[in-house]
Amino acid sequence: MTSAAAGLVTSNESKTASIQAHIDQVTEDLLASLPDPGQLSAEERRGILARYTAVLEGNFIYWMTGAYISVGSDEARAKIMDNLREEVRDCHPGMMRRFAIAAHAIPTDEDAQAVHRNLMDVRLFIGRLSAVPVVVTMAFFEGFIQRFMPYLAELAQRQGSSEMEYTDVHGVCDVTHTQELFRALDAEMTLNPPLSAKETFEGVELLRTLIQNIVVAA
Ligand SMILES: [Fe+2]
Repeated sequence: MTSAAAGLVTSNESKTASIQAHIDQVTEDLLASLPDPGQLSAEERRGILARYTAVLEGNFIYWMTGAYISVGSDEARAKIMDNLREEVRDCHPGMMRRFAIAAHAIPTDEDAQAVHRNLMDVRLFIGRLSAVPVVVTMAFFEGFIQRFMPYLAELAQRQGSSEMEYTDVHGVCDVTHTQELFRALDAEMTLNPPLSAKETFEGVELLRTLIQNIVVAA
């Protein structure tokens, strides 16, 4: 490796660390803003479960596929393909639907309408296929989901459900997985021209807004 190349890798690694710090902070802020499940009405709990399902069931694989198409490095492709394979092989949309059915929270037209605009913004962002912002967004989302699962499980339990496969599977903290994801981000940053913070976190901001909209119907 030339010294110039070594310098590039080092600066990308510190950039990746600061990206990780930022998305960790966004995650902490979102978790801290969640309403206490015990203070919510049954209808408010149902609404959160239903809007979450309306967003995740039909879109997560689309988002991941968009990430796969966007990236150019072998590291990122391999990492995203592992994720897609698991989603399809273990039928995660089916797991999501069973979770919603058991919690009596199948999304209605109104639930879908409540998240429509913010969901559309995330879809269009993914459709631009911009590698680094898409990988940053997926890294944020994976980290957030895992931390959000105990909350989602509690809402479902309070709605009388004991079907917890979805929240159990997605609540596992996998340190190796996170490290690999950020290595993939490193590889993509090496391939692509540098972006401003606004460009880098555009998808994170859109997804944060969508998650807030899941928690509180607009
Ligand atoms: Fe999944």
